[in-house]
Amino acid sequence: MAITDISHRRKFLAQGNVYLPHIAIIEKIIDETPGVKTFHFNFKDEELREEFTFDSGQFAEYSILGIGEAPLCISSSPTRRDHLEFAAQGVGRLTNALHRLSVGAEIGFRGPYGNSFPLDFLEGKNLVFVGGGIALAPLRSLIWNVIDNRDKYKNVDVIYGARSPIDLCFKYDLDAWEKDETINIVTTVDRGNESWTGREGFVPQVLEQVASSPDNAVAIVCGPPIMIRFTFPVLEKLGFAPEQIITTLEKRMKCGIGKCGRCNIGNIYVCRDGPVFTHAQIKDFISREY
Ligand code: FES
Repeated sequence: MAITDISHRRKFLAQGNVYLPHIAIIEKIIDETPGVKTFHFNFKDEELREEFTFDSGQFAEYSILGIGEAPLCISSSPTRRDHLEFAAQGVGRLTNALHRLSVGAEIGFRGPYGNSFPLDFLEGKNLVFVGGGIALAPLRSLIWNVIDNRDKYKNVDVIYGARSPIDLCFKYDLDAWEKDETINIVTTVDRGNESWTGREGFVPQVLEQVASSPDNAVAIVCGPPIMIRFTFPVLEKLGFAPEQIITTLEKRMKCGIGKCGRCNIGNIYVCRDGPVFTHAQIKDFISREY
């Protein structure tokens, strides 16, 4: 799989000062779980609003004046252009400040950065999405992209899990995908509650039970480190070659543009060389990290 060329995106990046953000307005805030919110936003500049494009899998730096910035994926699909979305877990100074914002607030946005999911490589293949918790965010960008171009892809399986029912993100997407007869979705939680009637079990175990075929297939995986660590061996056991497994590593990024060195793993910089990689590209050093 070739790393996607994003040179045509450069026009959206600030010229001169590479850290200069565009101003965006928060248009809607969705409480996904007690600790996760999704933000719908649009650029203040109308021309930018019209012209801005990105690819599923890319990320951006979101900022609040006087607080700081953080890299997060663009979680909406480029096929749906009326607004953009990102999801944030309130775990740091910037993300907690984002959680305190209201509709109408201004934030900074610089990007898009990084490579993206290789749509050409995925075309004509069976797709197996494996996600956990808030890490469904980058996958949902691609899943909606696939749905909006459904005739280009073969079977679509989505296996998604969270620790408990209240930790399931994007429930409105899960409901929509349940109703979509062209998609096979399996939702699971590690531990249910009194009202949970769905499946219980860890994502890698459920993946093994569902046993998607590796024939003409690609698995796209994103989740917490513990899920990733146990999912790769299951995929290999099912017969997926390292070249048939794609993941996105939004790990330890800071500057987003290859300058700070914070995202270095093995011989790669996640922000500059990724965040999307095949398992073949990262397997030699990923076990030390996950
Ligand atoms: S995030 Fe700074 S070098 Fe990658």
